[in-house]
Amino acid sequence: MHESLRNRGVEVDVLVYNAGFGMQGPFHAIDAARQSEMVRLNVLALTELSRAFLPAMVARRRGGLLNVASTAAFQPGPFMSVYYATKAFVLFLTEGIAEELKGTGVTATCLCPGPTFTEFVARADMKPNPAFDATAMSAERAARKGHRAFRRGRVVAIPGAMNALGAFLPRLAPRWLPRKVTRRLNT
Ligand SMILES: NC(=O)c1ccc[n+]([C@@H]2O[C@H](COP(=O)([O-])OP(=O)(O)OC[C@H]3O[C@@H](n4cnc5c(N)ncnc54)[C@H](OP(=O)(O)O)[C@@H]3O)[C@@H](O)[C@H]2O)c1
Repeated sequence: MHESLRNRGVEVDVLVYNAGFGMQGPFHAIDAARQSEMVRLNVLALTELSRAFLPAMVARRRGGLLNVASTAAFQPGPFMSVYYATKAFVLFLTEGIAEELKGTGVTATCLCPGPTFTEFVARADMKPNPAFDATAMSAERAARKGHRAFRRGRVVAIPGAMNALGAFLPRLAPRWLPRKVTRRLNT
């Protein structure tokens, strides 16, 4: 993709990586091939595209990355373990790159939405979850928050006060507690 755009003389100033999916179920039982596909999409493709497009942005001293992770990035997620781990990767990678890019004129922002009304739940084969439905926001609201954060050069953007609180609390808790809470939410 990078090669073909370059050959056509297209300059990419902003790379938005939103593609991703989850899977619910025990790690040892869910479809292994689909699990690997998730890691390729959520982690590998994001990493490779970021690596491919950043050098030209840095050379032009403008532009940046807007990567979509999740509030899942802030704690382990029993029964969606691979998905949560992929999103932690996206968050940590984007934060690391953002710091490396200081002074280059290029930025990296990680949008971490909480529950959002999209096709995600159906695609992830998730069980009906009243807590999800009660707290979910529109995709438009989450996207606007991400766009605003990117324009301001913010590194991490969590739309919604409750989502921000939920992402912060695991840092205060003993390590075992967040995984117990997430286990309850995912079963
Ligand atoms: N919805 C939530 O509650 C929520 C919460 C936090 C974070 N997120 C994150 O938000 C991002 C967008 O998800 P969404 O909620 O909008 O779910 P969605 O409606 O299911 O959209 C998923 C997006 O990923 C693309 N995609 C899925 N599988 C793909 C594959 N194998 N190859 C290439 N593209 C693929 C889809 O493209 P096609 O439609 O063309 O297949 C679509 O654009 C994801 O990274 C997700 O992890 C979602």
